[in-house]
This record gives sequence, structure tokens and C-alpha cells, in this order.
Amino acid sequence: MKDRTPPRSSLDPIEIASRDEIAALQLQRLKWSLRHAYDNVPFYRTQFDKAGVHPDDLHGLADLARFPFTAKADLRDNYPFGLFAVPQDRIARLHASSGTTGKPTVVGYTAKDIDTWADLVARSMRASGTRPGDKVHVAYGYGLFTGGLGAHYGAERLGCTVIPISGGMTERQVMLIEDFKPSTIMVTPSYMLNILEQYHRMGIDPRGSSLDVGIFGAEPWTNAMRAKVEAAFDMHAVDIYGLSEVMGPGVANECVETKDGLHIWEDHFYPEIIDPQTGAVLPDGEMGELVFTTLTKEGLPVIRYRTRDLTRLLPGTARSMRRMEKITGRSDDMIILRGVNVFPTQVEEQVLRTPGLAPHFQIELYSKGPMDAMRVHVESRPEAAEAQARAAQARELAKHIHDVIGISAEVTVAEPGGVERSQGKARRVVDNRVKE
Ligand code: DLL
Repeated sequence: MKDRTPPRSSLDPIEIASRDEIAALQLQRLKWSLRHAYDNVPFYRTQFDKAGVHPDDLHGLADLARFPFTAKADLRDNYPFGLFAVPQDRIARLHASSGTTGKPTVVGYTAKDIDTWADLVARSMRASGTRPGDKVHVAYGYGLFTGGLGAHYGAERLGCTVIPISGGMTERQVMLIEDFKPSTIMVTPSYMLNILEQYHRMGIDPRGSSLDVGIFGAEPWTNAMRAKVEAAFDMHAVDIYGLSEVMGPGVANECVETKDGLHIWEDHFYPEIIDPQTGAVLPDGEMGELVFTTLTKEGLPVIRYRTRDLTRLLPGTARSMRRMEKITGRSDDMIILRGVNVFPTQVEEQVLRTPGLAPHFQIELYSKGPMDAMRVHVESRPEAAEAQARAAQARELAKHIHDVIGISAEVTVAEPGGVERSQGKARRVVDNRVKE
């Protein structure tokens, strides 16, 4: 793999500022953001008043803990534009996240918000090892989803040549990577596996591709997956995180030189980790739910927004800003099976260490009498697909899941191609349980 560490001189000064400088900037911006929300969004005014707090009560960063949380339901209840803090004619762009049911969550950006977003995605891409002048293949979906356009504006801002292919048509993706020779691909990790498979199908060696950097996010993925993709393409695989409500991609990003978790761009987003049950703020290093307060957003400021993503905060390394550990999963995706908490990422690790299995998987929950049960659908690799080999793979994966995760799961190993492929965010869990 090529060294892709960005020169220190290319970083934004705040990325390597002292903690004191960062905290001072955060406090100043946080005061502005609370005031902006309180003065311009009736929802926040009501919530703050109900909780008996006022923006003037914030004297230090720790005082934020006195302010009420915001949840996805609050955005839904105020659908579509009720939480916007500027008049509609100042909103330059709308995006929406596609919930599985009902109305989407709508988010709005002023021209300045779009500008900040482009800066932060450019910063994220530079941290990932992409350089001005590089060609960037954007296979995140374009449209209301923030992935495609978010990546696009960031790549332009960094000074790259953007290839806005969006998701789907996998054979064409491979052809264009081979013909246009981008250094960087931005795509969900599960769709990257789909692209890898297409390389094999077309008989092209992925290690010979032009790709040096993959910037993967929008869904949880593991270090085991990183090792697999890096080896398959001889490229760096770097994690990018974000969510529409807070901005979109580029809220936090790994640094290519360390790959040790994602630096949160703390000059624009203030992170907290809370106990999801009690709401109490937990000290850095402890695992809990990630909560964000935007510090500069005009269109849709969010105050103490509960992401449902589970992680912990760690001190800065390659940058002064704090890191968040690679996300274990969302609390919504946590499966509780006979008292044991299970995340799809834990299953992913076991699938990837089982010889003969392809990296695609889906978890099915079903009812076995009065009990909940789990079935893991995987498939064998073409070179290991005879019935006997598949039976052995099933036994081995079931044993790994039992020994490492501590649950009994049924495993079905299909023939190659038997598991649903992702075109964007993978659907990891299918719930077929009988509902009362
Ligand atoms: O997925 C934004 C994005 C686009 C991020 C492209 C990165 C790359 P939403 O559709 O609103 O926005 O979904 C946000 O996706 O709360 C996490 O649960 C999950 N997620 C996003 N990035 C990661 C990641 C975009 N790197 C939700 N690791 C978030 C784990 C992630 N989960």
C-alpha cells in the first residue's frame, strides 16, 4: 500500500490546535448555537423553558448536560420543516433520510451550511489520504440521501476530479474504475464487497486497480472487513461517519496514518456519550450512546441529538480532536437473544474468519415456539461450494458464534450468490418473528 499520509502543512490549523484552543472555540460557538435555536425554533424554546434552562445558563461546556435531548421523533413530529431556524428562502438545499416506514426525516441547509459541509468532507477526504488532483469515484447514492452529494461537494472542494456515478449497475462501476483510474472510491463497505465480487466475475485482478483509498461509511463495518478489503484491492480502507440530522457524511473520519477510530470534527460538532437508559453523561472512554450538538449550523441546529449509535470517546492521536471508536452498532439494531446482546458487526467478524465463506451475510430473527431465535444466512465461495464443504462451514460458523458471542444460532450456507446483495446500506437484519 502506498503511503498516503497528508503533509502536516496541508491540515486546517484547528485540526492540530491545543485542547484549550478547541474548547474555547467550542464554548463560544455553543453559546451561539443554543441562542440561535432558542430564538428561532419554537420547539427548542418550549423544551428549554419546560426544563427550566436558558441559553444564558451555559457558562462552561459541562453545562450543556442541563439542556434537554432531541430525538428523531422530534424531527418527525415537526415534519417537514418545523425545526428549521431560518426562513424558507434562506434554505439552499433539502435532504431526507429514508426511514423504513412512514415519513422521512427532512433536513435543511443554508448556503453557509453547504459550504461548511464541503469543507468538512474535504477535510475528511484529506485525512483518508486523498489529495488535490486525485480522481474520486463517488458510488454513494445521489439524491435525497446525503451520501452522494455530500461526498461530491467535498471532493470538489478538495480540488479533485469527481466521477459522480452513484450506486448500482455494478458491472459498469468496475468498467469505469478500470478505464478512468480513480485513486479514491467513496461507497458503503457492503457495496464495495459487491464491486469486489464483480471484479472476480469479470476475471480482473482487483489488486491491479488504480484504487489507493476507499472511504467507507453510512453503515457499521468491522476491522475484519477492513483487513479483507485492504488485502483484496491493495488499498487503504478508511472509515467516514455522519448522519443527516447532524449534517451528512464528514462529521468524523479516520486518519489514514493511524486507522485507530474516527476523529470527530469538534470545531463544528460537540459530542457527548450518555447512558442510553438514564441519559447521564458518561466520562470519555466509556461505551454508550453518541449525542451531538451542532456548533455552527444555521438551517437546522440540533441540540443534544441522540444518534442511537453506540461507541466511546477516546483522546486524539493523529489530530488533537477526540476520536470515537468504530461504531459497534445502533441501539435499534441490537438483537437481544435470551438475554444476550448481539450486534450484526459481531456476526460479521465471525463470518469473515470462517474459511470458505463469502463475506455477505444476513441475520433472520424468527419465533421458535415462545422463544426468539436467530438464523444466519451466508454463502460459500465458488471454490468451496460442494454440499459437504458447505455443511462443514455451517458447523464452523455456528461454533464461532457460540464460542465468541455466546448464543446458539442456526446457520444456513447457500450456494454462491444466495445472499441478498447490497446496493447501498446493507439490510443486515430481517425480523420474521411472530408478533402478538
Ligand atoms: O448515512 C450519512 C453518510 C453517508 C455517512 C455516507 C457516511 C458516508 P443517514 O442516512 O442519516 O446518513 O444515516 C446515519 O448511519 O446514525 C449510523 O447509524 C450509520 N452510519 C453512518 N456512518 C457510519 C459509520 C448517512 N461510518 C446513520 N459506521 C448513523 C457505522 C454509520 N455506522
